[in-house]
Amino acid sequence: MTAAILCLLLAGPVLLVAGSPVYKSDNGTVPLVLWHGMGDSCCNPLSMGAIKKMIEEDIAGIYVLSLMIGKNVIEDTENGFFSDVNEQVSTVCSQLAQDPKLKGGYNAMGFSQGAQFLRAVAQRCPSPPMKNLISIGGQHQGVYGLPRCPGESSHICDMIRKALNNGAYTDLMQKHLVQAQYWHDPLNDDLYKKHSRFLADINQERAVNETYKKNLQLLEKFIMVKFLQDTVVDPVDTEWFGFLKTGQAKETETLQDSVLYKEDRLGLAAMDKAGKLVFLASAGDHLQFTREWFNANLLPYLR
Ligand SMILES: *[C@@H]1O[C@H](CO)[C@@H](O)[C@H](O)[C@H]1NC(C)=O
Ligand SMILES: *[C@@H]1O[C@H](CO)[C@@H](O)[C@H](O)[C@H]1NC(C)=O
Repeated sequence: MTAAILCLLLAGPVLLVAGSPVYKSDNGTVPLVLWHGMGDSCCNPLSMGAIKKMIEEDIAGIYVLSLMIGKNVIEDTENGFFSDVNEQVSTVCSQLAQDPKLKGGYNAMGFSQGAQFLRAVAQRCPSPPMKNLISIGGQHQGVYGLPRCPGESSHICDMIRKALNNGAYTDLMQKHLVQAQYWHDPLNDDLYKKHSRFLADINQERAVNETYKKNLQLLEKFIMVKFLQDTVVDPVDTEWFGFLKTGQAKETETLQDSVLYKEDRLGLAAMDKAGKLVFLASAGDHLQFTREWFNANLLPYLR
């Protein structure tokens, strides 16, 4: 089937069924910022390009910015593997701050690793204001494993897997390998907490940065989509901010069971109480959804 073939070729989201667009006429729209996932780029006509086009068809007049990290599509794709995430986030922050169309605020939608990167934007850069953050298959507690690489990048993944096993928390890896920067090893919790430059920082593992906590709570909604048959993300619980229990690599815990939540180190418990956290599930593998599902579940948050 076409859909199955597509998902072997593509790293990006795959729309399984094409439906007919719904046109709206007014321009009372909220701009939307997209951050693509690993192995993908801002402008691939079959993935992010298709998503952008679909949303533009559904919400007439909307401004959709699909982030390009680097000077061109090749750099953008490479930067999804080899770069410093903290620097990427800070570059994106300035780009958003300089875009006059975003002045009044924007919604953000991150695909896979792009989702945790956009959360960092929300926590570090409150201006312009992010309204809704939609995480599509994001890894908010990181990953422990790289079972399958999306798309055509499987040789890169073999290389990355080896490198991660040889020491994800060395300075070199933390500065240059993107996946190391959200590598979360439950068997080496101290190393993770001490040396993870990106994930442990935004997840308040070393200290509670009150600014992060305050900024994240400025969101109207934080929507997390989990893929029920995900074969790319390990453990899949991370898509709802859950993870493996510390000290072992079998049993998982939900966000609500975690220390992060119980001590409310990031404001997530407060957001949950206020009805700001939305947990959605989609049947299918990583980043695969139908237009019908998207329109029913996510489109309402973009209006
Ligand atoms: C609708 O408004 C946005 C934000 O001001 C603007 O970027 C976009 O071009 C407008 N679209 C149309 C069709 O006027
Ligand atoms: C907390 O986060 C803000 C925003 O990124 C940053 O400016 C500040 O330096 C951080 N504080 C600490 C103690 O790390």
